[in-house]
Amino acid sequence: MNRLSGKTAVVTGGGGGIGRATCERFAAEGANVVIAEVNQELGETTAEAITSAGGNCRFVPTDVSREESIEQMVAETVGAFGGINILVNNAAVFVLNGIDATIEEWHRSLDVNVIGTSLVTKAVVPEMRKAGGGSIVNLGSISSFLGQPNFVTYNATKAAVATMTRCMALDLAEDNIRVNSVCPGTVWTQIVERLTGEAGLDRAAADADPEWGGACFLNRIADSSEIAAAILFFASDDASYCTGAHLMVDGGYSAQ
Ligand SMILES: NC(=O)c1ccc[n+]([C@@H]2O[C@H](COP(=O)([O-])OP(=O)(O)OC[C@H]3O[C@@H](n4cnc5c(N)ncnc54)[C@H](O)[C@@H]3O)[C@@H](O)[C@H]2O)c1
Repeated sequence: MNRLSGKTAVVTGGGGGIGRATCERFAAEGANVVIAEVNQELGETTAEAITSAGGNCRFVPTDVSREESIEQMVAETVGAFGGINILVNNAAVFVLNGIDATIEEWHRSLDVNVIGTSLVTKAVVPEMRKAGGGSIVNLGSISSFLGQPNFVTYNATKAAVATMTRCMALDLAEDNIRVNSVCPGTVWTQIVERLTGEAGLDRAAADADPEWGGACFLNRIADSSEIAAAILFFASDDASYCTGAHLMVDGGYSAQ
């Protein structure tokens, strides 16, 4: 507890899935948490839940693909909490297609997953500089490094996030800003719930299925809180000598 005491963290896409679990964990560790989320209902519900549990949390409606929305979010965060120490670039869209992807699908995936990550970082870094440093955690994936069937659009964006993590780590080291990436395997969030549901699998069946949970050493799908724990590590001072690193949190999937 209190590993983030006195820190202010912005979590993009913090209303649901891994982002929500990260906001909950950060608040429990004493951070001021800003949920920078495009979905009003998810943002409000998560902020209320965290606040009711005693956390210091605020929902700021944000579309990471729109620069003016990001600038408003940063201004509101600084107005409320005085600065920003931690950024989790978690928001993403799952546009899953192969070589038949349309130009609209390409723009949507790149706008949110790649350009959004870059624009939020650009807007937050000046606040980290003022604070004397900071920690940025980007959400990569096993998909950053692998070929997967009909995933050209999504995997291209996650590979970009891996490369951006290395480049940003180099560029921002002189500002005492660390940049790392957490790379989950399969996590039980809305996209996995939907895809396994379409295949007729409930959670237990999805855990055991050789194409889902059964595809990794640990033989199960991860819970979002298990990814949040890794994000917390990079965000906290425990990771003071880590930058430009990728932590696979995939039940051993990529070790095969
Ligand atoms: N779920 C998995 O199995 C898995 C595996 C590997 C990596 N990841 C990565 O983890 C991250 C979170 O994934 P998840 O499964 O929790 O996703 P999710 O869809 O459950 O949550 C993503 C959140 O981002 C928000 N969002 C989408 N577009 C936005 C925008 N333009 N501006 C602000 N917010 C926006 C959504 O409303 C949603 O609340 C993503 O970067 C994803 O690529 C997920």
